[in-house]
Order: sequence, then C-alpha cells, then structure tokens
Amino acid sequence: MPPSLYAKYKDYFPIGAAVNSKTLHSEQELLKKHFNSITAENEMKPILLQPQEGIFTFEKSDEMFAFAEANNKMVRGHTLVWHNQTPDWFFENEDGTQVSREKLIERMETHITTVVSRYKGRVYAWDVVNEVISDHEGEYLRKSKWLDILGEDFISIAFEIAHKADPEASLFYNDYNESDPEKREKIYRLVKSLKDKGVPIHGVGLQAHWNIYGPTIDDIRAAIERYSSLGLQLQLTELDVSVFEHGDKRTDLTEPTEELLELQEKRYDEFFKLLREYRDVITGVTFWGVSDRYTWLSDFPVRGRKNWPFVFDVDQNPKESFWKLVNF
Ligand code: G3I
Repeated sequence: MPPSLYAKYKDYFPIGAAVNSKTLHSEQELLKKHFNSITAENEMKPILLQPQEGIFTFEKSDEMFAFAEANNKMVRGHTLVWHNQTPDWFFENEDGTQVSREKLIERMETHITTVVSRYKGRVYAWDVVNEVISDHEGEYLRKSKWLDILGEDFISIAFEIAHKADPEASLFYNDYNESDPEKREKIYRLVKSLKDKGVPIHGVGLQAHWNIYGPTIDDIRAAIERYSSLGLQLQLTELDVSVFEHGDKRTDLTEPTEELLELQEKRYDEFFKLLREYRDVITGVTFWGVSDRYTWLSDFPVRGRKNWPFVFDVDQNPKESFWKLVNF
C-alpha cells in the first residue's frame, strides 16, 4: 500500500493539487489520501467568478470549499489580478471605450473584496497578482490592460485591497519561468520594491512548470535563495514535470516511453531533495493537477497532445516518481 504523500511530508510542507469541477470528483480518492491542500485550476479566476459586472458565480468554487472542509483540506486561492481569464468588461465602458483609472480601481476593489471576504479565514494563501513580469529581454513588466490603465501601481493596490479583506491570509506574487536567471532578477526587483514600500506581501509563488530537461537544480536553488533573501515565504504553486522539452511540439507519443519516465523519476527525486533542504522557507508545494489522466499540458502547446507530468499515472496508480518522493 502506498503511504500518504502529504502525511510523509507533514514535517516539511503541505502537498497540494489543482482541481477542477471534473477532477474534484474523478480524482477524489487520490485527493483524500495524498493531498492536504487544493487549488481551483480555473474556477476562482475572475472570468469564472464574475463573468458580468456585479454577477458573481460562486457555485463551483463553493463546491470545492465544501469538499475541502468536509475532508480537512486547506485551500490556496488562485487568482485575483491577471492579464488572462479576466473579462473585457473590467477595462471597458458600456460604449466600448477604455475605462478611467478611478473606475478600474473601483472594479478591482469590488472584485477582490467580494471574493476574498466570502472566503475569509478559509484560504491560507492567495495568489493576489499573477504573471506581471515580462518574458522579453530588456522589458520589465508585461504589457496588459491593467498596466496600461493603472501603471505599475495596480500591483500594490491589489495587495492592499486583499489585505484589508482578509488580514490573516498570506498574500503571494506568483509567476512562471521563475528559475530563469534573467526573469528571476526581474521578479526579485518587483517583490523587493513592494516590500520596500511596505506593501502587504508575504510570499513568492514559484509556479514550477518544469520538464525533464530543465531548469537545472542550480538555477532552482539560486531562485530559492534569491527570493527567500527577502524574508518571504516561498511556495511551489503549479508544479508539473512535462516529458517534453520546452518548445518541443512533437505529437507522435500516445504513451510515455520508459526512457522518458526514468528521466522524470530522476528529476522528481532531485527536485524534492532540494525542496526538503529548504523546508524552513517553503510553506507549500502544489501540483498543477492530480494524476496523468488529466493535465492542462495535454493541450499545450499543441491541442490534443498527451503529456504525463505527475507522480500518479493514467490509472491513478503511483509511478516510480511517487516512490522517489516518499522514500527518503
Ligand atoms: O470553459 C471553456 C469552455 O466553455 C469552452 O467550451 C472551452 C473551449 O476551448 O474552453 C473552456 O475554457 C478553457 C479553460 O481552461 C477551462 O477549461 C480555456 O479554453 C483554456 O484556455 C483554459 O486553460 C487554462 C489556462 O490556465 C488559461 O490560461 C488551464 O486549464 C489552466 O490549467 C491554466 O492554468 C495556468 C494558471 O492559471 C497560471 N499559470 C499558468 C497555468 C498554465 O497555463
């Protein structure tokens, strides 16, 4: 019988999984046994929670909270301010023209306050601001409507509003390619500037969309050291280990080869060895899914392509990677 993954990590950090309305049911037994935290993969994003101005749709996220609370699981909140999966109405007047600064701040405040207050005391960490750093060389912040209309201030304003709504929740800045040295420095610069200004930010979310070839352990270690030097918590928020190298658009695999699985196992082993070393600063590790039956990576970057990024296989059985995580 495989041991419970989260129980094995009780002296280290909570082990989480992203769920959606389908996997909340189909992966229920794995969730109950192996994970002590859940995150909504999509259901708590602005476009799902407030598709039209003033019309909040909480049914799906409420269902996740009900599952979490009935089964003693913690909840990570994802996400409040993002350039993606945010309805256009946020940024537009009724006649289609761009909203004023005041109007956008008012809409941001209504959204964050309504959502965070509803789940006050029930979310241990919120991804307040997601992915605002640019991936382009020489460019600091990502171009977005938030940035166009509010300037860089939108980031600190979002944290202030979230903190007011739930002063006990840990508030995170969350991003991907977080271990890339150039992007790491930009993320560091942003988070440091927020800390220096006294903005209520408590953590950095390292999404950790990794693969069997990268990033290197040295780069991950350097990122952990750099972010934690700011005295903040770190959480891995969206961990998956793709069997394809970044940019590989191959579509010919219908199941993973032994060779790929062995490489993946080696990666999981070295990742978790490193994470265990940093248990003082790492306060959570969330996988961006549960088992290989479903992953967003099966549609990315090519629609319909399969991927097998987790430690449970398509039949929900533990893979060799799982055993590497629990045998230490
Ligand atoms: O809900 C609609 C459905 O009505 C429609 O019929 C269908 C047709 O394509 O699309 C459905 O929406 C999809 C949505 O997931 C819900 O399933 C979107 O097309 C699809 O783009 C969306 O993908 C999500 C993606 O974020 C959006 O950027 C993935 O599931 C989700 O895993 C992914 O998660 C993000 C994190 O939030 C932030 N970090 C990166 C991570 C991976 O991209």
